[in-house]
Amino acid sequence: MRPNISLIPRFNIDYGFHDFLSGLSATVLQKESSFDILRSEFRTPDIFFANYSRTSICLILKSLGLPAGSRVGVPLYSCTVVFDAIINAGLVPKFIDINENYTLDPEDLKLKVGDIDALIVIHTFGRLADLDEIKRIAPDIPIIEDCAHSIFSLYKGKQAGTIGDFSSFSLPKYLSAGGGGMVFVNNTSYVENLSECMDSLEHSSFTEELKHLLIMYARAFFYHRPWFGLLALPIGLSVEGKVDLMDKTSFDIKSINRSDLHVAVKKIRSFQNIVKIQRTNSLLLIKELADTPYALPTEQENTCCNYYLFPLQVATEGMRDQVCDYLRENGVDTSKLFSQTPEIARAKYGYEGDCPHTEKVADRIFTVPNHYTLKEKELLKIARLLKGFCSSGSMHV
Ligand SMILES: Cc1ncc(COP(=O)(O)O)c(C=O)c1O
Repeated sequence: MRPNISLIPRFNIDYGFHDFLSGLSATVLQKESSFDILRSEFRTPDIFFANYSRTSICLILKSLGLPAGSRVGVPLYSCTVVFDAIINAGLVPKFIDINENYTLDPEDLKLKVGDIDALIVIHTFGRLADLDEIKRIAPDIPIIEDCAHSIFSLYKGKQAGTIGDFSSFSLPKYLSAGGGGMVFVNNTSYVENLSECMDSLEHSSFTEELKHLLIMYARAFFYHRPWFGLLALPIGLSVEGKVDLMDKTSFDIKSINRSDLHVAVKKIRSFQNIVKIQRTNSLLLIKELADTPYALPTEQENTCCNYYLFPLQVATEGMRDQVCDYLRENGVDTSKLFSQTPEIARAKYGYEGDCPHTEKVADRIFTVPNHYTLKEKELLKIARLLKGFCSSGSMHV
């Protein structure tokens, strides 16, 4: 790839120097952040934290006290660290298909519900799964909402993460808090067991916190223009065929870093406004792309999507790769999130091929930038490129 100083990054990691300084002061002064603001924003009293969302999910599962080898339903269309969370809790993933909304398919759940003891529901890309229907089908098993993507999305007027028995949020993603996982326990009968697990978590040392802070800041710095297109992506591609500055390997369960909690609490105050801007950007893209062959991420009835990510779907994997290459050549990076998960799940996590829809669509989906930091003219450029690709005759569906 030719270095490109104006390449728009695929993800928006908005962790600036002021966040770094704020995190540094919390680390150096050993500040304990009050998270009452979170309790009032989400109207939920029982909130806990760990170092990642993946470790939070693992702790939730452990706190259920299920016999080793029990099965946990999880959408196949997911990040593989969610499967690691299940396995690290001594349990086994049971894969469930997704529907056209990219979320857990209630019809497939009906077929598999007798075989599972807990269920993880992912609100992928910020799009709400049909929780009422899911609860109706699985009334007797604990439901964990994976809200890694869905902070401030709404389902029938209720905040994502406040409907299942538990929920888990990934703080470095949309909120760009550096790191950390946040857990809500909405069913009070589970609070005691989980708080025992959470209270025993080890804290990182001062040096580890400082190292984490520096890495988070450097990662965000290089995920911005001009460095992303100039250095990070070209080097990443030449080193390993793809760049992914998100840490997908760690499974060391610890307490949240003070810096991450401090930055998360600060950011949450204004975050609903930021979500509004990203929604406006996304609705603009949807309007511009109407009457094109792309499957657009329109909202489901009774939901309000935070549009953390903006997925598009085309008819074949080859077409997806061509449009992504075309966009990158023209200054817009894209992601092919979870594209390889079915293959990896088959090779490493015991997936047996019973999620045909996920297998069909996983390598046809890509996301385009819709970040709240983009200007209208940049969004229009993205839409123009997508439309240009269609009209160049490259896209026959
Ligand atoms: C849907 C989903 N859940 C959970 C996670 C894990 O989040 P974390 O990186 O905070 O462990 C990810 C990570 O990419 C994800 O995409």
